[in-house]
Amino acid sequence: MITANAESSRRAALRALAGLFAGSPLARGQQDLPYKAETLTALDDMVNVFDFEPVCKARIPKQNYDYIAGGVDYEWSLRHNREAFERITFRPRMLVDTSGLDVSTTLFGTKIEMPILIAPTAGHNQAHPDAELATARAAGRVKTIHVLSTNSSQPVEKVAEASPFPKWFQLYPGPDLETTRERVEKAVGAGFKVICLTVDAGWNSHRERLLRNRIQAQVPPGVASPQTAPSRRRRREDEEALKPPPYRLSTTLMHKLDWRFYDDLRKYAKVPVIIKGIMAAEDAAVAVQHGADGIVVSNHGGRYLDYASATIEVLPDIVNEVGRKMPVLVDSGFRRGTDILKALAIGASAVLVGRPPLWGLGAFGEAGVVRVLELLQSELALAMGLCGKPKISDLDRSILRMPSA
Ligand SMILES: Cc1cc2nc3c(=O)[nH]c(=O)nc-3n(C[C@H](O)[C@H](O)[C@H](O)COP(=O)(O)O)c2cc1C
Repeated sequence: MITANAESSRRAALRALAGLFAGSPLARGQQDLPYKAETLTALDDMVNVFDFEPVCKARIPKQNYDYIAGGVDYEWSLRHNREAFERITFRPRMLVDTSGLDVSTTLFGTKIEMPILIAPTAGHNQAHPDAELATARAAGRVKTIHVLSTNSSQPVEKVAEASPFPKWFQLYPGPDLETTRERVEKAVGAGFKVICLTVDAGWNSHRERLLRNRIQAQVPPGVASPQTAPSRRRRREDEEALKPPPYRLSTTLMHKLDWRFYDDLRKYAKVPVIIKGIMAAEDAAVAVQHGADGIVVSNHGGRYLDYASATIEVLPDIVNEVGRKMPVLVDSGFRRGTDILKALAIGASAVLVGRPPLWGLGAFGEAGVVRVLELLQSELALAMGLCGKPKISDLDRSILRMPSA
């Protein structure tokens, strides 16, 4: 027989337990990471791409993790890149035969098995000693494109040899026009198929996580890039480019460049040249006037201008302006197949991911990068299947419910 006293203390115990669960990350949802990285280290345990971040964090030095994770200033854009996806929902269609699901697409003549590319990110040696060689091999294994950063820790020729699958080269101009041209010709000579000119990084940004780790430069000391080794020549324009910039800011040649630089680059590059970092429809229209081969809508993963809009917010206007005239790619904050589907339905040709492949690399090396890409590919395929749109070419805004502007 249960006495009144025993019953009330049993209830109290149950209430305490419920309270414990309510406050537990398990109940708050997976984004709060309901486990410790040490207890979740098997590749097969990774359920989504977020799962790789704590494992990567546990396995690499703190300052390397901070470099990868961080954004600029208050990191509002970094957070908002994710939050903005929450405002778009789906209007799925039913009773459509989706048995022929196919998420492959073709970009600049290369057929890729998913509309998901590896964004250019500096210094993969911070995540893993195999660095960009592992990343390139992983991209080749899943048949998608790795965009190699100018600030790669491996020379372009070695990355070119790491995998026969087509790759693109991201260009940071500097320190002078001649060295810039040599960089491009070297990459094209090594077989890189597309040049991706990054235009949103004219002034080095205020990355507070780096400063708190006492790292002054945008590219930390561990990221020695063979591509940016100082030139032996010192020409007059170098001196000009290296004059101290105002207001104690730091920069590269980039802040002096305008559309004429792009026109020249297109002439000598001899491969398509796309522009990464476009955020306004007006600039996309200018890009078309200059014959641009494509653009990447990007806020650099929230690493340059804080309070830059989320890319998924500006994408519709940009696609409306130029989507019929050239491929519009997009990055910044993509972590789910549903995020990718939203961008494709708005009219993007493909999406790039920056941090997730680095988490995969830091956590499990090449195999981790492969799994990150496969997870995103599966999630995208599933979302397309459930929306009644089996092919990329079937997608349009009719499956979306968008916030009014
Ligand atoms: C660690 C890190 C290094 C980066 N390095 C470069 C770079 O060298 N060149 C470049 O154009 N963009 C660089 N980016 C920006 C990415 O290309 C991409 O725009 C951004 O990571 C996309 O956001 P996401 O990380 O949220 O996917 C870097 C981003 C990160 C996180």
